[in-house]
Amino acid sequence: MKRVAVLTSGGDAPGMNAAIRAVVRRGLSLGLEVLGVRNGYTGLIAGEFVALGPRDVGGIIERGGTILGTSRCPAFRTPRGQEAAVRQLQDRDVDGVVVIGGDGSQAGACALSQRGVPVVGIASTIDNDVAGSDPTIGATTALDIALEAIDRLRVTASSHGRAFLVEVMGRRCGYLALIAGIAGGAEAIMLPEVPQSAEVVAAAIRDAYGRGKSHAIVVVAEGAEPNAAALAEYFAHHAERLGFELRATRLGHIQRGGTPGVSDRMTATLLGAAAIEQLQAGMHGNVLGMLNGKVTPTALASLAGAVKPLDPQLLRLARVLAE
Ligand code: ADP
Ligand code: F6P
Repeated sequence: MKRVAVLTSGGDAPGMNAAIRAVVRRGLSLGLEVLGVRNGYTGLIAGEFVALGPRDVGGIIERGGTILGTSRCPAFRTPRGQEAAVRQLQDRDVDGVVVIGGDGSQAGACALSQRGVPVVGIASTIDNDVAGSDPTIGATTALDIALEAIDRLRVTASSHGRAFLVEVMGRRCGYLALIAGIAGGAEAIMLPEVPQSAEVVAAAIRDAYGRGKSHAIVVVAEGAEPNAAALAEYFAHHAERLGFELRATRLGHIQRGGTPGVSDRMTATLLGAAAIEQLQAGMHGNVLGMLNGKVTPTALASLAGAVKPLDPQLLRLARVLAE
């Protein structure tokens, strides 16, 4: 193996740069040439490659986002797009590819692998929805950002005796909401995995006031049904009957733009280096993640349609601790 390429894809996540840095420096240490692909699969199809040396990845371990750029690339979902990407790799004699991204990006990595390209994935998304990695690179930093926001919201909620809905990201996965809700001391948590009606949430808020609380925080996953916007509308409509005042805050992309914390930097560094070592050893077709503190490969092909379940113990604990 002489030349490898690395790309970042899907939603950016704090720690992607640390992973790029580790891929590049570990690759160079083994005598490999490392090419960066700009803007994820879009750049792969278009042939946007750039040679990366040790200084090109200097001063990036502490930076959120991705220096390579990322994209959502509908064309890569098509056979035509994938064939074009494979041709670009062949034209440059690329012997292996590292794909840093979430579950969609790893589905793309699987497609490349099935077309004969040696690929190793690195699980990186704030959503923490890639099976075989707990947690994915970026999720921990995103949680710290959400927690800081929740702590601040509780201060103003308490002063006014208000209830707050706080919407966090996570797409169809409730992990961010569950952990932010538990660690943020929320009175209720709305998850895509556990549908609850607006009336049940209203009852939880009223109960909280009834138990003497001066605030009520409800953490709502963006994929929950009803979602934060629908809940806010419902509560506004029934404000008089429900008897509490409510505000809603959507954290949105603020959660993605943070400086990676130590855990995301370390995970990214370990996985980045391991990805190169796996390619060098001829082991590919896997996504690398951390399981029980160890770098663990999971077959890319096994991810298709796999839903990463929430920890049922944490779900139970969340209910108990909201008291
Ligand atoms: P993430 O990787 O953060 O989950 P997306 O789901 O948007 O983000 O996926 C990123 C990109 O991966 C998509 O824009 C697309 O180019 C590629 N991708 C996603 N799913 C597939 C698939 N089933 N087959 C091929 N490529 C895919
Ligand atoms: O996958 C990461 C994520 O931040 C999700 O939590 C969210 O649903 C989505 O990306 C937002 O995507 P975009 O940045 O394209 O608006």
